[in-house]
Amino acid sequence: MRGLLLTLAPVKVLVTAGPTREPIDPVRFLSNRSSGKMGYALAEAFIKAGHSVLLVSGPTQLDVPDHVDFLPVETAAEMHQAVKSYIGRMDVAVFVAAVADYTPAHVEPQKIKKSGDTLTLELVRTPDILGSARGSFNFKGTLIGFAAETENVEANARAKLRGKDCDLVIGNDVSRKDMGFDSENNQVLLVYPDRVVSLPADTKHHLAHHLVDAIIEIHTLKS
Ligand code: PMT
Repeated sequence: MRGLLLTLAPVKVLVTAGPTREPIDPVRFLSNRSSGKMGYALAEAFIKAGHSVLLVSGPTQLDVPDHVDFLPVETAAEMHQAVKSYIGRMDVAVFVAAVADYTPAHVEPQKIKKSGDTLTLELVRTPDILGSARGSFNFKGTLIGFAAETENVEANARAKLRGKDCDLVIGNDVSRKDMGFDSENNQVLLVYPDRVVSLPADTKHHLAHHLVDAIIEIHTLKS
């Protein structure tokens, strides 16, 4: 009966994925090791489960999954603007992107030339997109965050769950070379308000199907 309910109720899902790139000058940027694989696998799994997906993605080398609406962005500010524009039409929002927390205060209009032995960049905070969902975006749907941690995965994921008023935070240990960032595999901890579920290590594609079931179950219970 539960499976029937899940397939009969298609939902509109926003997924953020990939890294952001924060320009320093016309040829350089700050970024991170996110490949987009986890977010794209989730987008594809939602489509295969019969839902519709808007994928807001930073730059990746991946093919966009079939039937996904795709909105490419580069910077954290552009991702913030895209999510702000579309989240109000969504039932579920899943924030997988590895968004830069800081961006250069000024983008140099010309390539920075070598001069002294050191170079100091001034960085300023980027908008917290997930943290804006319940507040300034006034999103009432099912809100799922990720937590990329190198220690204390459960405690840090729980702090994000509470601090950003999420329904679920999916924690992963990104200190491992064989899991997490830029790998085919991942191992995740599902941190709910009242419990924690640990999923065994698996490919991102297999995991994505379990995560879609878990997310749709939360959404069905909330609706
Ligand atoms: O892309 P892959 O190579 O497949 O790797 C997958 C992954 C490791 C990137 C993914 O599983 C993951 O953990 N994504 C979250 C990465 C992250 O930036 O986590 P965080 O703990 O720094 O951020 C917490 C949450 O806030 C995340 O949902 C993030 O999308 C969101 N966030 C963060 C900063 C910001 N300015 N705005 C945000 O919305």
